[in-house]
Amino acid sequence: MSRPMSTVAVTGGTGTLGREVVGALVAAGHDVVVTSCSSSSLRDGVRTVRVDYGRPVELRAAFERADAVVHCATNVTGLRGGEAELGKRVLAAARDAGCGHLVYISIVGADRIPLPYYKAKTSTERLVEDGGVPWTILRATQFHELVARLSSALTRSPLVLVPDIRFQPVSVTEVGARLADLARGSPAGRVRDLGGPEIADWPDLVRQFQAAAGRSRPVRPITLFGSVYAGYRAGHHLAPDGDTGTITFQQYLADRFRR
Ligand SMILES: NC(=O)c1ccc[n+]([C@@H]2O[C@H](COP(=O)([O-])OP(=O)(O)OC[C@H]3O[C@@H](n4cnc5c(N)ncnc54)[C@H](OP(=O)(O)O)[C@@H]3O)[C@@H](O)[C@H]2O)c1
Repeated sequence: MSRPMSTVAVTGGTGTLGREVVGALVAAGHDVVVTSCSSSSLRDGVRTVRVDYGRPVELRAAFERADAVVHCATNVTGLRGGEAELGKRVLAAARDAGCGHLVYISIVGADRIPLPYYKAKTSTERLVEDGGVPWTILRATQFHELVARLSSALTRSPLVLVPDIRFQPVSVTEVGARLADLARGSPAGRVRDLGGPEIADWPDLVRQFQAAAGRSRPVRPITLFGSVYAGYRAGHHLAPDGDTGTITFQQYLADRFRR
């Protein structure tokens, strides 16, 4: 059941996903506090608190009045302990501040594809589950933005070589809305995965990207080797049985290139 007008803290509320979560929470009438390690400016009337995630007192103070924390900040570099250390600090501060709900965003297949970042996501899931704060974990597939960014990088070569894997890209707006809904509700544990409306071969997505971007370089699928690509080729990052958003990659591209 949804709690009206609660206060929600969003870590990394400046990021691709965090912005969408903040927007959805504000639209629903919630008081929102964003924590950021790089900015302290007010954005759209939302209070942004600059924190050093390594300083528990600062983080705890930022979470002080929050009924829920949505943890969208991420440390992809692995520096300073990486994603799991960041999660541990956010969790400890949420617990010390007496927050009743921690919502964590993870990645479909994080436990089945042996990328170091995915391993850190899985470790963070375990920390959240055992951390003493009532929790909700949502796993999502790759955002349209990520697939577009990867596709754009590939299309800089005269011949575009694209790994023969599939993606199920999802709208970050829809993931943000789902996270906001989850934060407004009661802790739900691990909820159903969320993916995009279509599963497509990456080479076809690259062709869509090129068409939208006005590029026309030849695209050739390639097969890569190793356990990471084996995991992607097996489709462990897809959520065919999960919940699905409605916005296709094509629609995302049309909107992005219109703007
Ligand atoms: N991208 C995808 O396709 C995808 C798919 C499924 C799940 N996810 C998950 O969604 C979450 C958000 O992803 P995103 O794409 O929105 O990320 P993002 O745009 O990179 O934003 C994350 C935010 O994290 C903060 N940050 C960066 N480095 C940090 C560090 N070392 N310590 C603490 N905070 C740091 C930054 O905010 P400040 O500089 O303001 O602190 C940044 O705005 C991640 O947990 C990711 O694993 C992503």
